[in-house]
Amino acid sequence: MLVNATDMLQKAEEGHYAIGAFNTNNLEWADSIIEAAQQAQSPLIIQCSAGAAKWQKGYKVVSDLVHDLVEVKNVTVPVALHLDHGTYEACYEAMAAGFTSVMYDGSGEKDFETNLERTREIVKYAHERGISVEAEVGSIGGEEDGVIGMGEIADPEQCKIIADTGVDFLAAGICNIHGIYPENWAGLQMDALAAIKEKTGDLPLVLHGGTGIPVEQVDEAIKHGICKINVNTDLQLVFAAAVREYIEAGRDLEGKGYDPRKIMKQGRQAIIDRTIELMGQFGSVNKGWGC
Ligand code: 13P
Repeated sequence: MLVNATDMLQKAEEGHYAIGAFNTNNLEWADSIIEAAQQAQSPLIIQCSAGAAKWQKGYKVVSDLVHDLVEVKNVTVPVALHLDHGTYEACYEAMAAGFTSVMYDGSGEKDFETNLERTREIVKYAHERGISVEAEVGSIGGEEDGVIGMGEIADPEQCKIIADTGVDFLAAGICNIHGIYPENWAGLQMDALAAIKEKTGDLPLVLHGGTGIPVEQVDEAIKHGICKINVNTDLQLVFAAAVREYIEAGRDLEGKGYDPRKIMKQGRQAIIDRTIELMGQFGSVNKGWGC
């Protein structure tokens, strides 16, 4: 059975580690990410953007798939299914479809007041149904599945106001960017993160754009209160590299090497290995979860 993400993230906050939130695209992704969590004995947040849900024919298909995988694989670690960067409307659709957690990304709303009002409303509706909520202040730079952010650094006062809505965890822009970081990237703004943490107390904070951040910066961010680290591009890169290697070696031309299951197998294993590696780096493995 799936859980919401509140309890696992509160434990991460108390234990000073982070839980990976990995984006899924299809059966191969979902199964590999869940497999990694079970093998590593780590709690998991598996998340889906609106674009990836559309690709999979909607939130219901994604939700049913993840619920079924957790059941048939007899998964014993806690798994939450989270909507990544949801609009106001998408949050309600995902909740109706069985997601156990949603992110309402109000960073694109016309003003902070609208973000605040809608966050408050979604928190109330979600909590009545046992669903956890992530909000956003500032914005994440770059583009992900059509969601474009300018990368504003979050205002600690606004973070405090959003925290007081009862939201379960908060994404705050600290110069993090979706996708691959440019050569001239200034790095995560730890001072800004520390100021946000001071205002928001024990509220778990979220780091988006988890691909390609130097390990020392990830460690420091965790020390400053980051409890959830979003990773999407990283798994896409390892999947593509593994499949490319198979094709370039001409293995699809050997016998029945063209069988899609044989081609995908390389990519699946690459996702499992990399997810386990990242979970180890974030410190979420073997913390006494599961049976
Ligand atoms: P990356 O694609 O940079 O890993 O970012 C993922 C993310 O933040 C999803 O919300």
